[in-house]
Amino acid sequence: MRDERLADGWDVNAGAWIQWTRRGLDSYSSHKVAFLPLIPPPGRLTVDVGAGEGRVSRELRARGHRVLAIDRSPTMTRSAATHPDVPVPAVVADAVSLPLPDAVADCAVAFMCLHDMDDVVPAIREVGRILVDGGRFVIAIAHPLSSAGRFDQDTTDENPPFVIRDSYTAPRHFTTVRTREDLSMTYHGIHRPLQTYTDALTAAGFVIEQLREHSAEDPTNKWSRIPSFLHLVCRSGAGTAVHVDV
Ligand SMILES: C[S@@+](CC[C@H](N)C(=O)[O-])C[C@H]1O[C@@H](n2cnc3c(N)ncnc32)[C@H](O)[C@@H]1O
Repeated sequence: MRDERLADGWDVNAGAWIQWTRRGLDSYSSHKVAFLPLIPPPGRLTVDVGAGEGRVSRELRARGHRVLAIDRSPTMTRSAATHPDVPVPAVVADAVSLPLPDAVADCAVAFMCLHDMDDVVPAIREVGRILVDGGRFVIAIAHPLSSAGRFDQDTTDENPPFVIRDSYTAPRHFTTVRTREDLSMTYHGIHRPLQTYTDALTAAGFVIEQLREHSAEDPTNKWSRIPSFLHLVCRSGAGTAVHVDV
């Protein structure tokens, strides 16, 4: 049984993450080109759940959204709120207990964080609570196929096979360390099968309007064969009962 919470690991790694993202060392610049157009136009309030150091919140603000960034890591939240160019309103909170009233927002975004949360089912339910009926929840996660396995590293094959040595269906924690330039970044997450997310979304009253699998465009890149990210656009309010007297 694990005692530590994933968010604690993210807080410990927040200093590295802030440098990692602000030096552009991950795939965000290409990933956002596919993700950001899925977000609806600005409305009353957009909540960025698991906002980290605030890069998506800053993009949304530039597009006219009134944004609230929420993250469980105090270090991440502080850096979002004190960004030197575009500080955003940000609060420390767990996604399972958002400090907001019911039906207050018309959009919520969770970019590359639901697979980093211990309790994803109550977190998705909580987003359903704060959204108005008809609001949109726009999600990017590590594609469950990509988190289930890895490209075989024991081969010199230019086109290595993608291997799932463990189970696709069983959830499990993973830790990935990436090194670029002089910086190492440790990712703490949970592999879960796709159905965990879709079941949680439907149980929270969401209808999935769009599902997109994001892979590399360059056909010589091995990540063009396996989708690395999954995008979902979900509409809230499907669970609202309608009573008709006859
Ligand atoms: C990979 S980072 C992504 C941050 C941001 N969305 C981005 O792409 O720049 C994952 C974030 O999820 C946050 N997180 C993990 N568990 C959380 C929880 N239970 N509630 C709120 N945030 C959480 C972490 O603190 C971390 O900032």
